[in-house]
Amino acid sequence: MDLREKFVKYFEEQDHVYLPSAPVIPENDPTVLFNTAGMQPLVPYLKGEKHPLGKRLVNYQKCIRLTDLDLVGDSTHHTFFEMLGNWSLGDYFKEKSIKYSFDFLTRILKIDPNYLAVSIFKGNDFVFKDIESEKEWLKQGIKKERIVYLGEEDNWWPNMESYGPCGPDTEIFYWRSKDEVPINFDPYDSRWVEIWNNVFMEYNHNENGTYTELKSKNVDTGMGYERMVTILEGLEDNYKSSVFKNIIAEICKISNLNYDDPKYTKSMRIIADHIRTAVFIIADDSLIKPSNTDQGYILRRLIRRAIRYANILNIDINSDWDIKLANIVIDQYCPYYEELSRNASVVQEVLINEKVKFNRTLEKGLREWNKIIGQLSDNKINKDIAFKLYDTYGFPIELTIELAYEHGFKVDEKGFYDKFKEHQLISKVGAKQKFQGGLSSTSDVNIKYHTATHLLNAALKKVLDSSVHQRGSNINEERMRFDFSWHQKVTEEQLKQIEKLVNEYIQAKIPIIKKEMSKEEALKLGAEAMFYKQYADTVSVYQIGDISMELCGGPHVTNTSELGTFKIIKEEASSSGVRRIKAILK
Ligand code: ALA
Repeated sequence: MDLREKFVKYFEEQDHVYLPSAPVIPENDPTVLFNTAGMQPLVPYLKGEKHPLGKRLVNYQKCIRLTDLDLVGDSTHHTFFEMLGNWSLGDYFKEKSIKYSFDFLTRILKIDPNYLAVSIFKGNDFVFKDIESEKEWLKQGIKKERIVYLGEEDNWWPNMESYGPCGPDTEIFYWRSKDEVPINFDPYDSRWVEIWNNVFMEYNHNENGTYTELKSKNVDTGMGYERMVTILEGLEDNYKSSVFKNIIAEICKISNLNYDDPKYTKSMRIIADHIRTAVFIIADDSLIKPSNTDQGYILRRLIRRAIRYANILNIDINSDWDIKLANIVIDQYCPYYEELSRNASVVQEVLINEKVKFNRTLEKGLREWNKIIGQLSDNKINKDIAFKLYDTYGFPIELTIELAYEHGFKVDEKGFYDKFKEHQLISKVGAKQKFQGGLSSTSDVNIKYHTATHLLNAALKKVLDSSVHQRGSNINEERMRFDFSWHQKVTEEQLKQIEKLVNEYIQAKIPIIKKEMSKEEALKLGAEAMFYKQYADTVSVYQIGDISMELCGGPHVTNTSELGTFKIIKEEASSSGVRRIKAILK
């Protein structure tokens, strides 16, 4: 049985309900580009909203973390990974959480407890030292020498800077080495690797800097799937485990090179990592395409970086090497994430198109690069050059930095980003925060826009046709963007009618009612559901009078009158058979 299945089965036996993975691109959450942890889609519930599936949940979640992008190439870091997690939303707390973790590791996975060690929160100005956790670990049989107390930097999740639900955690470490296990636990010895984090989320970090207690004491845990599989297979390199074995084997075959030759290992790891992540981004149902902003920019950067490393390995870039690798990823993961097979042809198309574009720009760009460095009077690439390479030659800044590094040059990165911002290529939400990921904070404006998407969806069905369905949505503090199925341009006249109708709904002051019911019941009632989404068996349905009924996780305003005035600012094509409307609330 696969580790994912063992994990879910174990927690189901402890009365947890399986929650399907959320998409890798968060819906209606403009504060992050990607889901970075299993808990991210659960933020409203950690904050106290009732989850339709109950108080005990388990899942494996697709995650993307970009903070580690530069570390990809070593044996353990990835941009995409899966997180196994179990949650208590105001149900059990420290004692049971620790008991379950220990039981799962030692009884189900048969890990020798002598290979385990733990760290616990040592306390700070406002939270006590976590002696309860120590007591429970001792009770489970972890020896005192294998327990250390650490501070905020290590045992507070997510960190002291992020806003939203947070709390002290206890982290479990495994001795991953052929060397004899030492008696004492030294958390800074890299042979002890962290395998599982149990966060006791009982606080909210408010935007004014204060910490308040959440409505309930929650547990949020996360175990890295790739790392754990590697440990269970007795290996030290994630890329040699069954997770990456086939992809690496294919890269070796295509390049005719040996993975164990240190000259090639790093490039092969980067290619494997980036193609895998690119496949998951493209196949996500938001259908992100390579572009110069947000997720599209990350996608472009990953594909182009993979191409560049393939080039370094002398792979014929114009062959179908990338499609072969993508197909391996799709075959391997589609039993767990069906969208991969459903969107397989889109994956192939996007990879091919981006490669053609990149080849064109790379050739020209490298010529320009050689010209530039030939003319430099010092070893500095200033912001104007970096921006020109980006803007005119399509060089992601990271490529410029990498090339510069290879040639012993320095890039004015900050200057580049300032210029980049001036050109409004990064939306106002705050590039840094979004690119690094963080916790979502659902503002009042976001909530209003979220409700407006339901009204717009209803109005589109009325004015255009009842067959119109939502294909995606994205909200930030300034506007909403709504994609829907429709084959031709929406006329001026139709847009006017749609806008008018939404404003009528707003003026009608209709209360928004949330109900929980079984998925079957909701669909029978004709509730709108997105065809591509996986829903749990029990769902929340938001009803706005007789205008709209949608399966949705919320949150929403309580009355349409809170929305103000709705105004459409743009209508355009999004992709084939999909149109896009941008609108604002005033
Ligand atoms: N949310 C916690 C983490 O990502 C479990 O480590």
